[in-house]
Amino acid sequence: MKAHKRIIFPLDLPSEAEALKYAEMLCGRVGMFKIGLELFLECGPSIVEKVVEKGQAEIFLDLKLHDIPVTVERAVSRVAGLGVRFLTVHCGESEAMLKGAVAGSDGKVGILGVTVLTSVGRGDLKEAGFLPEYAEDVRQLVMKRAVMARKCGCEGVVCSGHEAAVIKEAAGDGLFAVTPGIRPAWESTRSDDQKRIMTPARAISAGADYLVIGRPIRDAQDPRRAAEKVAEEIEALG
Ligand code: C5P
Repeated sequence: MKAHKRIIFPLDLPSEAEALKYAEMLCGRVGMFKIGLELFLECGPSIVEKVVEKGQAEIFLDLKLHDIPVTVERAVSRVAGLGVRFLTVHCGESEAMLKGAVAGSDGKVGILGVTVLTSVGRGDLKEAGFLPEYAEDVRQLVMKRAVMARKCGCEGVVCSGHEAAVIKEAAGDGLFAVTPGIRPAWESTRSDDQKRIMTPARAISAGADYLVIGRPIRDAQDPRRAAEKVAEEIEALG
C-alpha cells in the first residue's frame, strides 16, 4: 500500500463547504476521509458522494452504530449502497449485533469494531459492573472485543497505537488496526485532548494499518505539506 493511502483525515468540520474545502485541498495526499456523526447529520448521506468527487479518496463513515442486531443489519444495508470503504459499529456486548452488521454490509463496506472508547476508563467500567479482570485492565476488554470482532467477520478495529501490537497478537494479522491519537514529532500544538499519543512511524511499526490524523494536518500552516510529511515518514520505514 502506498504510504499516503494509510492516512485517514477526519472531516471534523461543521459545514459542507468547510468539509469540501479540505477534501479538495488534500486530494491525492490522503487515502481516506472520515465522515463522523456531526457532518453526516448536518449534510445527509449525499455528503459521501460530494467528498469523493472533491477528494478522490475512499470514505470511512464513523457512525458507531449500536442497536439490536436486526436494526443494525438494516442500517448497514443502507450504508452499503453509499459506496463507503469502512463503517464503525460498537463491539458492545453481543456477537449477534456484529454478525448482523457484517451480514448487512453484503461485502460492500468493511465493518470496523469499536472496542472500548478511549474516553472510558477503569472507574467507568467498574461502575458499569464489569468483572475486575476487565475493569482493572481495560486492555483485556479491548483484546477480548477485538477477537470477537474478528470472529464475527469485521475487517478491523479502531484502537490506540499502544494497543495495535497486542490486538494483532490476540486476533491475528488479518484484522486491520485503525489508529487515532497520532501526533508527528514536528507538530508543535500538542495542547489538545489526545492523551496517549504516538508518532506516525511508531504507530505503523507497532502494527497500525491506517492512521486517523486530524488536527496536526488541519491546523498546520500548510495542510497539504503536513500530509506529505506524514507520508514521507511512513515511506521511510520501507
Ligand atoms: O488527530 P485528531 O486528534 O484531531 O483526530 C481526532 C479524530 O480521531 C476525531 O475524528 C475522533 O473522532 C477520532 N478518534 C479519536 N479517538 C478515538 C477514536 C477516534 O480521537 N479513540
